[in-house]
Amino acid sequence: MALLDIITYGHPTLRQRAQKVAEDQIDPAFIQDMLETMYVKDGVGLAAPQVNVSKKILVATDFKEEYVLINPEIIAHSEQVETDSEGCLSVPGFQGEVDRFQKIVVRALDASGKPIEITARGFLARVLQHEIDHLNGILYIDRALPDSLHKLPLSEDEDPVSVSLDEIQNHFHQNDHVDRRDVVFERTQPLA
Ligand code: NI
Repeated sequence: MALLDIITYGHPTLRQRAQKVAEDQIDPAFIQDMLETMYVKDGVGLAAPQVNVSKKILVATDFKEEYVLINPEIIAHSEQVETDSEGCLSVPGFQGEVDRFQKIVVRALDASGKPIEITARGFLARVLQHEIDHLNGILYIDRALPDSLHKLPLSEDEDPVSVSLDEIQNHFHQNDHVDRRDVVFERTQPLA
């Protein structure tokens, strides 16, 4: 197993739409490395683009179970949204409030290539929405409520993002937010 390098804000891979993974191209060693990296970095989720691999793979944990989702898609969501604080290993030193659907249904392949469907609520629903966004080139700061972004103390092994809070907010709300409108304002089936 190996720790993977996490790329940060400004790296172009974070803005690409990741490629689908063929069932016979799932790499168990890479998935193990993603899980190990997530745990070592104290993350609750990690998407492959964050380690500079532009493929639709994410790992996540809700502290009870761990999840490996290949080609995940949100196929339904609640009308209800919840606002809570988010951060991202690729945007070290920042935190912001983000609205997320309270409940989602995700269709994906598991680590063995088997089709699965997960109904996630609350915290797990938030983590999965954050990670699925990464697979579409979206960062939580794109969706963060204006004025909610704030700086956090960095941990010792983190390098600060070399951009100011103002620049991040202005850039995202003026550029990327609009470019990703189809995904940012996604249309999935409301849950019954
Ligand atoms: Ni993230």
